Amino acid sequence: MEKIVVNGGAPLNGVIEVSGMKNAALAIILGSLITEDKCIIENLPAINDVSTSLEILRQMGLGIRMINKNTVEIDSSGAIGGSSPADLVRKMRASYYLMGAELGRYGKAYVAYPGGCDFGVRPIDQHIKGFEALGASVTLEEGGFVKISAENGLKGANIYFDVNTVGGTINIILAAVKAPGLTVIENAAREPHVVDLANFLNACGAKISGAGTDTIKIKGVEKLHGCTYAIIPDMIEAGTYMIAAAATKGTLKITNVIPKHLESISAKLEEMGVTVEEYDDYVIVSRHDKLNRVNIKTLPYPGFPTDMQPQMCVLLCLAEGISYLSESVFDNRFRYVEELKRMGASIKVDGKTAIIEGGKSLHAAPVRAVDLRAGVAMVLAGLAISGRTEIEEISHIERGYDDIVGKLRSVGADIKKVFVPDTVYFERAN
Ligand code: EPU
Repeated sequence: MEKIVVNGGAPLNGVIEVSGMKNAALAIILGSLITEDKCIIENLPAINDVSTSLEILRQMGLGIRMINKNTVEIDSSGAIGGSSPADLVRKMRASYYLMGAELGRYGKAYVAYPGGCDFGVRPIDQHIKGFEALGASVTLEEGGFVKISAENGLKGANIYFDVNTVGGTINIILAAVKAPGLTVIENAAREPHVVDLANFLNACGAKISGAGTDTIKIKGVEKLHGCTYAIIPDMIEAGTYMIAAAATKGTLKITNVIPKHLESISAKLEEMGVTVEEYDDYVIVSRHDKLNRVNIKTLPYPGFPTDMQPQMCVLLCLAEGISYLSESVFDNRFRYVEELKRMGASIKVDGKTAIIEGGKSLHAAPVRAVDLRAGVAMVLAGLAISGRTEIEEISHIERGYDDIVGKLRSVGADIKKVFVPDTVYFERAN
């Protein structure tokens, strides 16, 4: 077991480079199955969810060759459909992209029901509705497997999503990309990773238009081919470091970003009194004064991202006055609040809204990373307050943040990973 130990209270200053976007990388890696060819994927983040995705594909018979730490060649020509390892599939949410990719490639799919962060109920009814509209039948099999088959082949269709779903939109794009005819997805998710997946597939010969709007059109093509493609920067990683600057009263230049993707985050930070300067592919975030309270509601893109909600909660704890933080994407994404309360935060959760009484003095405490973004919020809290914060269950954080300890150390943070074998601590330089 490993812990992260932070001795906080000092401002962070310097430059942090953002890695490729986790959620785009996962869709593109797993989606590459459909190309039946060799793809070179660049700007991959070095995170555990990427390793797990590549291992799933390797066990399915695909050729995986790391060219360097951030570039992989995936040869999907020899893949065996329906053979994904259930134990790895259940480790992460994005493995549900195998459903769309296998269905699109083989006309059938057999995949374990996916895992992922626990935010309450996370149904896949909209994915199923979309697969069925394309001509497939879907059954849940014994042992927690999803079986999908299109005995008479897939056919383009009109699909209207009842809820705005990133995973559903990506899965239907994958299933429809080779389905004869035209597929139209209405109320499609507009997230940058949906656009990135569409751009990747178009680079492989697909005919997808409208990604980034709420209507996506997919003209089925007979065949795809390989390509070389670079993943876009991770807006959530960037947003996390923007908050690190604000929370520690520091100044960070955050490079390799697309400022447009950060607009909702930048706007809220500016409303709180933080300075955000935007340039072509970097932002400079600094804070000199006290933070203003604000109200925030998470929304699908281009609204304020749910994946920034826990990190923002930490910043609101540091602002004077009462802030309301409402979650409108997931049922239950406030499990981390109990951890912040251990640090002295005054937060009341009423349904899907956290009422945060900011300005209370916080103190270091041992806490848990209850999920990925919740875990990184604990790191931010630890950086902001004086004293030694120990964070357990950091495997959640390592699923999605590329070298977070190294990046934060490079801008002056006193942070390290500590091995905890039973009762003895061995410290490791990072
Ligand atoms: N939903 C349904 N039915 C469905 C699908 C979704 O009711 O068939 C509901 C969900 O329960 C949720 C809402 O729709 O209330 C949105 O879910 P969505 O499908 O958009 O989320 P997801 O695909 O499961 C992805 C990201 C999440 C991110 C959300 C929202 C990946 C692998 N995961 O999840 O990322 O929070 O979109 O933007 O792309 C993270 O990176 O920390 C993370 C959790």
